[in-house]
Parts: sequence; C-alpha cells; structure tokens
Amino acid sequence: MKRFLVIGNPIEHSLSPKLHNYWFKKYNLKNYSYEKRKITEKDLKDVIDELRNNSLSGINVTVPFKKKVMSFCDRLDKTAEDLQSVNTISKKDNKIIGWNTDSLGFQDCLKNLTESDKNKSVFVLGAGGVTASVLDGLWGFGSKQIYLSNRSMEKAEELKKHFKEKFNKIQTIDWGKKPAEICGIVINTTSVGLQKDDKLDINFNEYGGTNANNLAGNKKIFIDLIYNHKTNFLRDAEKRGNLIIDGKDMFLGQAKYAFNIWTNLLPKVDQETIKLITR
Ligand code: ATR
Repeated sequence: MKRFLVIGNPIEHSLSPKLHNYWFKKYNLKNYSYEKRKITEKDLKDVIDELRNNSLSGINVTVPFKKKVMSFCDRLDKTAEDLQSVNTISKKDNKIIGWNTDSLGFQDCLKNLTESDKNKSVFVLGAGGVTASVLDGLWGFGSKQIYLSNRSMEKAEELKKHFKEKFNKIQTIDWGKKPAEICGIVINTTSVGLQKDDKLDINFNEYGGTNANNLAGNKKIFIDLIYNHKTNFLRDAEKRGNLIIDGKDMFLGQAKYAFNIWTNLLPKVDQETIKLITR
C-alpha cells in the first residue's frame, strides 16, 4: 500500500484527497491512497518520520506549515530553496526532499495569456506565504513591471528585497493606493475572499473593459487564487467587463506536478477533473 497525505491546519476543506485519489484510479495505480490530516506544529517531525520509515510515500503541505516543514527535509529543490516554501515532499535514496510546485502551478493560471500579456504591468495584492510563488511564476512567465501592495508594508518590502536579483522591476505601493498607471493584470493573493462576503477595501472602478473612464478601453485580467467560489474581487471585475481567472488552475497545477514527482506520470487536466473540484 502506498499512502499519501496532505497536512495543514485547517484541512477540512482540502480537495487534494478527492483529486489525487481520482488520478490514482484513472492511472490504474492500485493500492495508492491519499488522505488529509490536521496537525499541529509539534506533529511535523512524526509525520516526516512516517515518510522515512515508509509508512507514507509522499506528503503535500499546506498553510501554515510550508515554511516550518523545511527544516525536516534533507534536501530542497531549487524553487523550494529559493522561495523558502515547501508544498510537496518525496523520498529518494533515503533522503527526504522538499519541493515547491506552487510556482509552476501558478503559471498554469496564465496558460491562456498571450505573448503581448508579458508586457502588461501587474498589480499584486498581498505578501503572504503564497505571494512569493506568484512573483516567481510571473518571473517565469516573463512579466516585467510589478507593483506590489500589502496591508503590512514591511512584508511587501521583504519580498521586493528577496526578488531583487531576479526581478528588479518590483515597486511597492502603500495599501489602499493604486499604481499611477492602469495595470493590465491585477492579482489578489491575500486571504480576503476566503469567506464569500469578504471584500477588499480597494475599488477598481476605473479598471473596466466597458467603463468609459478606462481610456485604454480594453479588458484587464483579474486573477484571484481562491478557487472554491467566485470572490467579490472577481465578481466585480467581471461586471465591469474584464477577464477573470480563479485559482482552480493553480490548485490543479500544483497537484499535477506533485503527482508527477511521486509517480513520474503527468496527469491530464480535463473538463472532468475541473468538474471534480468545482462545487
Ligand atoms: P501567510 O500566507 O503568510 O500565512 P496569511 O494569513 O495567509 O499569511 O495572509 C495572506 C495575506 O492576506 C497577507 O498578505 C495578509 O496581509 P498582512 O501581511 O498585512 O497580514 C493579507 N490579508 C489578510 N487579511 C487582510 C485584510 N483584511 N485586508 C488586507 N489584507 C489582508
């Protein structure tokens, strides 16, 4: 039996077991199973030991342990090291390896964007755990100018500093303010929106494909990493005639690359897969 686990706190709402068990079945991986487990920080070592002694074959890590789990790994892949964030763990040659598949997963959110979208300025809201993966994904995509804003300014400044070698075009903006230029892409990486009624205290009224005030006159792209419902951020942007992208592709992407690390198979994300995680 090969057992896999996603660990986090809270974990009740995780759709990872549903998704990975579906792929195990689809790819005929008999005797593979995937569960979720709510843990506290003091359980981390014991869970990793289960991987060491082969009781487990792979682990996904979610909030709030992506950073804390790093010290229990023997090796980190380059992206995990770079972003100081691990969401996938495997074992090879008796070594525990921490990986980050969130960055590649985020790039899946951008899969329908075009070459010209690379030249669009991006306004990124938030500087929490996942924001580094988003900035790394944007760098991988080829974005050039980034405006970064967070309620706690020092976290935005830290991220800017962290990325200065890769991305010298990150400019921080005070929370509540917007860049002087109207950006082509706006991304919400904050947790505002997790609850259906949540609303960011920034309005983007001048950002609209159908809004006369928008001199550029074309649609903007609004992305929210939240995937289990349409957030007010996306709902409002859509009403103004913009294109919207939710976090489903990122969720599916990070899972797909984790699955690949464990099984060497890259599962196909088709309509049925998307339906599986759509409530
Ligand atoms: P982490 O991912 O590091 O665990 P988090 O609690 O998930 O952090 O928060 C993610 C992001 O949502 C952070 O950027 C956070 O802003 P702060 O760094 O200022 O805390 C942001 N966030 C949470 N609630 C918010 C709110 N009501 N308004 C604006 N930003 C908020």
